[in-house]
Amino acid sequence: MASETDTLAEARTKTQKKFLHALSGGLQKVPPIWLMRQAGRYLPEYREVRATTDGFLDLCFTPDKACEVTLQPIRRYGFDAAILFSDILVVPWALGQGVRFVEGEGPKLDALEGHGALARLKDPEAAGEALAPVYETVAKLTASLPAETALIGFAGAPWTVATYMIEGGSSRDFTKAKMWAMAEPESFGRLIDIIVEATVAYLSRQIEAGAEAIQLFDSWAGALDAASFERWVTAPNRAIAERLRAHHPTVPIIGFPRAAGMNLYGFIEGAGVDAVSLDQMMPLALAKETVQPKIPVQGNLDPIALLTGGAALDGAVDAIMENLSGGPFVFNLGHGIMKETPPEHVSRLVERVRGR
Ligand code: CP3
Repeated sequence: MASETDTLAEARTKTQKKFLHALSGGLQKVPPIWLMRQAGRYLPEYREVRATTDGFLDLCFTPDKACEVTLQPIRRYGFDAAILFSDILVVPWALGQGVRFVEGEGPKLDALEGHGALARLKDPEAAGEALAPVYETVAKLTASLPAETALIGFAGAPWTVATYMIEGGSSRDFTKAKMWAMAEPESFGRLIDIIVEATVAYLSRQIEAGAEAIQLFDSWAGALDAASFERWVTAPNRAIAERLRAHHPTVPIIGFPRAAGMNLYGFIEGAGVDAVSLDQMMPLALAKETVQPKIPVQGNLDPIALLTGGAALDGAVDAIMENLSGGPFVFNLGHGIMKETPPEHVSRLVERVRGR
C-alpha cells in the first residue's frame, strides 16, 4: 500500500506545481522554497532597475519593470514560487493617503488624524480600480513565468496596514494605533472594515489576473494583547479569507501572523487560512507537533542566519528540514530577507534544501 501511496503522490506532484501541492497538504521529500522579499536590494540586478525609476512606487506601478524584478530571483535561484512585486502600502496609497519611500528611512505616510480622517479616504472599490497597473504586472507574470513556478499575490493584513496609516510609518511600539483601537474601538473597526474592503477588491483582481495563491502579511500581529489579537488580527484575516474563498474557492491563502506567540493557535482555528507562515521565534518541535498536523506550514529560517552564512546557516537549515520536511511544508524565512545578505548565501541555502 505504501508504494501505491507514493506513486499517487508522485503523479500529483507532476501535475501540480510543488508549491501548490504543499499548500494542499501534499508531502514531498524536497520541499518547495521561496523567500519573503526575494526581490529586492540584496540583488545587484534589482538595484540597477530601481535606479531607473522615479521612486519605489513608480517601480510598483510600472508593469514591465515590476515584472522584471519579480523574475530576477526566479532566474538566479529557480525558486518554486514568485511573489508579485508590489508593496503592502499601495492600499493606503489607493485609499488616497500620501505615501512616500524615503531612502534610508523607510516608508512615510500622511498619518490619519482626527475624526474626519476616515471620511476623507476614498471608496474601497475605487481604490481597487486605482491599482490597475499591479494587475497588469500579474498578467505579464502569468505569461512569462516558467511552467513549474507558482505565482503568489499578496496584501498586508488590516491591522498591519492600519499601523502604518495611523503611525505615519514604521513604529517601535505602535502606541498611536493601539491607543486608537483601545479608546475608540468603533471608529478603529470602521478603519479595519475599509481596509478589508479595499484588500478584498485588490486581491480579487490579482487572482482574476492570474495569482495562484495569496499571502496576507500581518507583520506586526505580535504587538497586540490576546483579546485585541482576536479582534484585530484573527477576525479581519478571516473576513478577507471568507470573502475571497466565496469567489475563488481553489486559491490557497497563507496567513503570516508574525510574532503571534501563543495567539498562533487561535489564529489557526479562527482565521480560515489554508496555511500558516511561521516566524523564527516558533520552536521547531512545537511547529512539528502542534501546528503541522492541523495546517501546512511555511518558514521559518532566521534572516540573520541567511545573512551570516557558513556553518550557522547550514545548521539552521538542517534543523528546520529535520523537523518539518516530513509534513506539508514550504521552506521560507521567518521574516523578509535583509538587504545586506550576500546573494551567494541564498545559493547555498537553496542547494542545501534541495540537495537531499
Ligand atoms: O519580493 C517580494 O517579497 C515582493 C515585494 C514586497 C515588498 N514589500 C517590496 C519592497 C513585499 C511582499 C513587501 C511586503 C511588505 N512591505 C511588508 C510585509 C513583510 C515584512 O517585511 O514585514 C511590509 C511591512 C512592507 C512595508 C515596507 N515597504 C517597508 C517597511 C519598507 C521599507 C523597508 C526598508 O528596508 O527600507 C518597504 C519598501 C520596500 N518594499 C522595498 C522593497 C523591495 C525596498 C524599497 C526600495 O527598493 O527602495
